[in-house]
Amino acid sequence: MTTTSPARTAAARGARPAPAERPRRLRTTAAVRRLVAEHRTHPADLVLPMFVLEGAREPVALGSMPGVVQHSMDSLRRAAAEAAEAGVGGVMLFGVPTTRDATGTAATEPDGVLNAGLRALVEEVGDAVVVMSDLCLDEFTDHGHCGVLDASGRVDNDATLVRYQEMALAQAATGAHMLGLSGMMDGQVAAVREVLEADGYTDTAVLAYSAKYASAFYGPFREAVDSQLRGDRKTYQMDPANRREGLREATLDLAEGADVVMVKPAMSYLDVLADVAAVSPVPVAAYQVSGEYAMIEAAAANGWIDRRRAIEESVVGIQRAGADFVLTYWATELAGWLR
Ligand code: PBG
Repeated sequence: MTTTSPARTAAARGARPAPAERPRRLRTTAAVRRLVAEHRTHPADLVLPMFVLEGAREPVALGSMPGVVQHSMDSLRRAAAEAAEAGVGGVMLFGVPTTRDATGTAATEPDGVLNAGLRALVEEVGDAVVVMSDLCLDEFTDHGHCGVLDASGRVDNDATLVRYQEMALAQAATGAHMLGLSGMMDGQVAAVREVLEADGYTDTAVLAYSAKYASAFYGPFREAVDSQLRGDRKTYQMDPANRREGLREATLDLAEGADVVMVKPAMSYLDVLADVAAVSPVPVAAYQVSGEYAMIEAAAANGWIDRRRAIEESVVGIQRAGADFVLTYWATELAGWLR
């Protein structure tokens, strides 16, 4: 006696299995796919991080971030104008000073490289693009930490807040629209908001790096800002193992008056981003950091992935997880493709 499988019997009758639902119907043509896309990257959703190097006469290329440079004042203006032309939503400036000290004095000098750069950006793009600052001491301290140190060499949270308040006023005076508080000191949002209000900078917004993790993916950035850091930032930046704590940090920053909360890095922290986006009453940003950029550039340069598709996919993935806007070193190039 021979046995026949039920499937073969059905096939023999010509009755092929018919799925109850056919999601593929909405993937049949590019037009249908475009129509039903849940997320779409728009140039205005992108923010370009930029570096300005004190005293530079020419832009300086960065080995670990091909395509990214430390700008001179002139090339900074040109690149900002180009970003504005491409419709990019914002630019975020980091300063690279040539002199550093224990308290990061250059960060609060009105003509220090970061403040001068911010003024140049505001002058160049006006209100067409949101000009954002990095408000942190690490580029300016000779020990490379994000704050000032106490007698035992530990980062002194509350003494650092005073420096952040001074930085906030110096940056607000440049006309920067949004201050990016990236130092991960407790109470930094409230401290900065308080002095901004007291000095009449009521319209200067605070973008809080709320859930900022102690990440290996900042590696190339450390070259970009000529970081002096030895050791790590694990006593103030978050432990990559912690998800719940990301929500706690964002909740605290909201209570302190943050206008925007951010999760950083992006790609390894999409769960945290989704958690924050689910509850935040204010816009949520995500920072696709230097190491994320470098990985995709390196793989693409080797011919291992399709560069443009990988860039587009990585950014829309960050949006899908809940980001209202994305900081990415590809902002201008990506915006150009989208137009
Ligand atoms: C600190 C700061 C860092 C980055 C942005 N702001 C470095 C750090 O925390 O060590 C990293 C950005 C990137 O890797 O692209 N001012």
